[in-house]
This record gives sequence, structure tokens and C-alpha cells, in this order.
Amino acid sequence: MDWTGISAYQGTCPLLPGGPTPTPTRYEAEDSPAVCTGTIDSNHTGYTGTGFCNGSSAVGAHAQFTVNAATVGTATLRLRFANGTTTARPASLIVNGSTVHTPSFAGTGAWNTWVTQTLTVTLNAGSNTIQVSPTTSAGLPNIDHLEVTTT
Ligand code: GCU
Repeated sequence: MDWTGISAYQGTCPLLPGGPTPTPTRYEAEDSPAVCTGTIDSNHTGYTGTGFCNGSSAVGAHAQFTVNAATVGTATLRLRFANGTTTARPASLIVNGSTVHTPSFAGTGAWNTWVTQTLTVTLNAGSNTIQVSPTTSAGLPNIDHLEVTTT
């Protein structure tokens, strides 16, 4: 055996299937320190927690989450929302002050039909702010929660 160039031993291959599935952390839009520029409502069923963010109908009327990450790196975001109109609602996804995505939240068929939009971002180690900020006067869809998985 030639150990030249070997700097560390790893007993298992990280690329093999069957490893543990990371558990997402859920952040409810109605729970502080989350911010909802609008009202916390509960009049449409199917939400998790105790309600959802009904943002005001205005540009910039946002939902904001404070998310902790152990280390810098890629995170998968799953944002749960409902849009009972037939018109998509565009927004900026702003992570730590920078717009990193411009998702558009399509109609879901009803205000009590919730769907999840997946987005991939880079988080800093420690506290991060993740803001969903509407770019039209229609405002956001109703926002239920954000789930974050770091790998
Ligand atoms: C309706 C609905 C609200 C929703 C709003 C909107 O009023 O009941 O939950 O937020 O439409 O268009 O954003």
C-alpha cells in the first residue's frame, strides 16, 4: 500500500445511498422572530402551526424568517404558500440583504390549497434572514411556513 498523498481516512463513502436523511427545520410565518408585513390569519384551513402570513397588497410587504445554519453552505428551502387567485404573484427572495431568486407563486386553485416551492440558497454560519418580498401591488400569496434543510 502506498500512502503517498493520503491525508485523512474516511471509513464510509459519503456518496453511497442509504445514509441518513437530514431533517428539515420548520419556521412558521406567524412565530417570532418571523416578520409578516400584514396580518396573521387563520381563516383558510390547511395551514401548519397557528396561522399564516397574509401580507398586505403592496410591493415590499414581506414575510421574513430568521434561519440558523451550523455552517456556511447550501440549503434547500421549501416555502409553503397558497394563492387562491388565477394570477401568479412574483417576489424577490432576499437572503441576508441580497436578492438571490425571483420566484413567482402561481395560483394554487383555492386559498386552502397549499403547495410548496423549493429553492436552493447559500446560507452563512449562524443567523440568516430570508425575506420573501413581493414585486407587484398584489402582494404575496399567503405564506404558511419555511422549511430549511442544510446538508
Ligand atoms: C383574499 C383571501 C386572503 C388573501 C387575499 C389576497 O382576501 O381571503 O387570505 O390574502 O385574498 O388576495 O391576498
